Amino acid sequence: MQTTRREMMIGSLSMMAGGLLAASAVPAAAAAAPAGGAAGAYKAGSAEKKLDIINLYDLEEEARKIIPVPQFSYISSGSGDEWTLRENVRSFDDHAIMPRYLAGVKQPDTRTTLLGSPVDIPIFVPPMAAHGLAHATAELGTAKGAADAGALFTAQTLANVPLAEMARVSKGPKWFQLYFTKDMGVNRELIARAKAMGATAIVFTVDLEWSGNRESDRRTGFKFPATLPFPNVPNAPKGATLAELFTIFKRDLDFADLEFIVKESGLPVVVKGIQSPANAKEAVSAGAAAIQVSNHGGRQLDAVPGAFTTLPGVVDAVGHKVPVYLDGGVRRGVHVFKALAMGASAVAVGRPVLYGLAMGGAAGVTSVLNTLKYELELSMKLAGTATIKDINRTYLA
Ligand code: FNR
Ligand code: LAC
Repeated sequence: MQTTRREMMIGSLSMMAGGLLAASAVPAAAAAAPAGGAAGAYKAGSAEKKLDIINLYDLEEEARKIIPVPQFSYISSGSGDEWTLRENVRSFDDHAIMPRYLAGVKQPDTRTTLLGSPVDIPIFVPPMAAHGLAHATAELGTAKGAADAGALFTAQTLANVPLAEMARVSKGPKWFQLYFTKDMGVNRELIARAKAMGATAIVFTVDLEWSGNRESDRRTGFKFPATLPFPNVPNAPKGATLAELFTIFKRDLDFADLEFIVKESGLPVVVKGIQSPANAKEAVSAGAAAIQVSNHGGRQLDAVPGAFTTLPGVVDAVGHKVPVYLDGGVRRGVHVFKALAMGASAVAVGRPVLYGLAMGGAAGVTSVLNTLKYELELSMKLAGTATIKDINRTYLA
């Protein structure tokens, strides 16, 4: 019954979106992809090459062919009916770009700073668990690929390599995302290791205390392979489902936890996962140095608005005090442009980075970020904006 409803939904979406979005909504149906094995020995690919990317939607279809079904489904899917997952991309269509010509722009400049760290592009890599699912080099490939593109990389609690190793392969700017564990000793240790690796901010993710309703993971029997370690969290269970893994994390997060991270780290803290303007104000009052508007890529509470839909409200509530970032559904240079025009200081792009990693290792990650950089430069040039600072709401229709 559930499958039938889902298939009907996908059918109508396919007509609307020419199949592109629909394809990302049917992970379990990708029968042609290699089999992945639910747990145990898992071998991700190890290709190292630059990618010739037409666009990031095509890239997803290429990645689907090489990542085993359970792992691809875990990465690509969303929760529940995947309405929020689709809204993340679709919501960018609610606003058009209003170009202004004769602006004398020769070569747009995409450089900016993220909480003081200089970067070549206003596009960064958000925290994503277990890059070892996508590529043998895991986070080492992603961290290097991001640095080579001049982009900031967010290292995560649920990485498959130690934080210190990431610092060894990448001198590029890094943040560290903390999943707050029940063990305060582990939290302190994680913050200390993040500082030792050179992280310039802590990202506190607030929208995953329970794992979302990931139906595709149940369908495919997805578990984190026991052979892929989580070396930064010594108490993480092996061969676990996402729900089992999350039994080690605190379930009743509150503002005191945010205040703890601010005090303990002495670093700026980015609160990630906020969509409500009132909630953003509360977070800033409790010490947040930035807000990352996000719905976890449509993987947590389904039926929340697309990230871009909620961006202006958060910008208007706290944007005069702190930078506001956005992630969720960014697949095009014009999406980056619209988010910046709406008041975001930068955006993060998630799944496509893992697809690039799977297809070409560090060079593949760089190719993904360069693709978005090129599309952003093109948008800036054609809209008549020379610098990131120039992009504002007057360029939105
Ligand atoms: C995530 N995301 C995530 N967020 C976070 O704060 N900590 C984490 O460990 C993870 N893990 C994770 C794994 C995978 C496979 C994905 C796809 C995503 C969410 C991530 O940071 C970001 O919010 C979304 O991926 C952005 O949406 P797009 O760009 O993937 O549409
Ligand atoms: C996810 C986690 C681990 O979205 O953040 O799968």
